[in-house]
Amino acid sequence: MDVIIDTADSIGDLVAEEISQLLRTKSDAVLGLATGSSPLRIYDALADRSSRGEVTFAHASAFTLDEYVGLPDGHPCSYRTVIHEDFVARVDFQPGTVDSPDGAAADLHTECARYERRIADAGGIDFQILGIGTDGHIAFNEPGSSFASRTHVGTLAMQTRLDNARFFDGDIDAVPRHCLTQGLGTILDARRIVLVATGDVKAEAVRQLVEGSVSALWPATILQHYPAVTVYVDEAAASLLTLADYYREIAALKPSLPSPAAF
Ligand code: F6R
Repeated sequence: MDVIIDTADSIGDLVAEEISQLLRTKSDAVLGLATGSSPLRIYDALADRSSRGEVTFAHASAFTLDEYVGLPDGHPCSYRTVIHEDFVARVDFQPGTVDSPDGAAADLHTECARYERRIADAGGIDFQILGIGTDGHIAFNEPGSSFASRTHVGTLAMQTRLDNARFFDGDIDAVPRHCLTQGLGTILDARRIVLVATGDVKAEAVRQLVEGSVSALWPATILQHYPAVTVYVDEAAASLLTLADYYREIAALKPSLPSPAAF
């Protein structure tokens, strides 16, 4: 696990640059998109690059991580709507190339199985962006989730409903109780994972993710078993990391390391 401590703006630029490079070498890359506040600077930086003609999504496709159950199509808080406004509509994805689980499907379990198949049929996810919940969830895999889980119907934890009430005019009763979410096993199949966390509200979850024991109580800790994850955090989110200075030193010394080809 690589840990990079930087400003929120630089994090947005660094991740946008990595995605742009991927699209230059693999124009039909499959991206995994998180919704919420954490990736917004990445999406801003990508939209800027796209408007300058530096990156194109014309041959790319994408899958979102999760969706609330029961919100009607077009609801402003539905993740399908949110990702469209925050990112998809600002770049040149072709119509129908960004997929989300359908939280209004008549048969939610069948929809989950179909979503898994759609990801597999696309060849799997090349680059997955993740945020992290204050309770350590990734996607909507709440504490207690199976590390091997696939896309499934989940129940949102009270902490997540409290945290996300800000998107529902502060009304916790308006936050759905259920969701569809890629499972932890689904997420771990991605070929590259980047997790972004900013702000002191994320400090404890980041501490557990990076330095805690792998535990169902903090689902994101399963990423310790994933070989190619980079965790980007700002100073506030890094504030509880015991080894923060060491992570800074590793990052500073990285340019002087021999390239992998030299080993
Ligand atoms: C959203 C998602 C969630 C969020 C997490 C953090 O698609 O998968 O895991 O990444 O709840 O949300 P923000 O970024 O709003 O703090």
